[in-house]
Amino acid sequence: MSKDGNPGVAVKVFTFEENRERLSVSIPEVLDPQYGMYVWPCAVVLAQYVWTARTELLQKTVLELGAGVALPGVVAAKCGAKVVLTDGAELPLCLENCRQSCRVNNLHDVRVEGLTWGEASPEVHLLPPADIILGSDVFYEPEDFENIILTVTFLLRKNPQAKFWTTYQERSSDWSIEGLLHKWNLKCKNIPLQTFHADRSHLAGSHLPGCHSIQMMIISMDM
Ligand SMILES: C[S@@+](CC[C@H](N)C(=O)[O-])C[C@H]1O[C@@H](n2cnc3c(N)ncnc32)[C@H](O)[C@@H]1O
Repeated sequence: MSKDGNPGVAVKVFTFEENRERLSVSIPEVLDPQYGMYVWPCAVVLAQYVWTARTELLQKTVLELGAGVALPGVVAAKCGAKVVLTDGAELPLCLENCRQSCRVNNLHDVRVEGLTWGEASPEVHLLPPADIILGSDVFYEPEDFENIILTVTFLLRKNPQAKFWTTYQERSSDWSIEGLLHKWNLKCKNIPLQTFHADRSHLAGSHLPGCHSIQMMIISMDM
């Protein structure tokens, strides 16, 4: 039972700190086996990156892909970015989770849109050009990798200066996006976790990163 008495929903609090600055966000999680119902370890690491880069985000347009309960996007919005949260267009429960995370954190001007990877629906064409695209643990099903890269390429072409900030959990040494990045003319920079204090098993008051092997990458157009 959650704090608000809703059965099957539990609210987790994540606290980010640096020097004397501090941000706490609350994320409701639904006890359901679907992927987009709770915070994944990668999300805490990406949210920590967003927090340490917060001065870059003020008034920037940030679009999160496969947001689920949207911890990184919520942190970006709290740090002053104009945020659009997206999840699969056919996954209304995940889109409702995005809305719920916004409500709980008093974020009333965050847009929530259905965006299915690899699909160019009219709604996707109407999205504002993003400065930063976020994606936490979106590379977990190899058959989706090219669709994700296609969507990212489409968004980067709308704003060639934009960057895709993404965290990835190593689940198999056979999986790689290198060939796809080359095919779609993208480049990738690995960001060592220690450079943003995320090389620890306990982060933002959460033990979620645990001993998972997580990578942070910035993908952009190879111009
Ligand atoms: C592993 S979860 C990660 C959720 C969240 N980003 C996090 O790290 O906590 C993957 C997310 O991708 C979404 N997703 C799965 N397939 C998708 C698709 N084809 N298009 C868009 N989103 C999709 C799921 O609904 C889910 O929210």
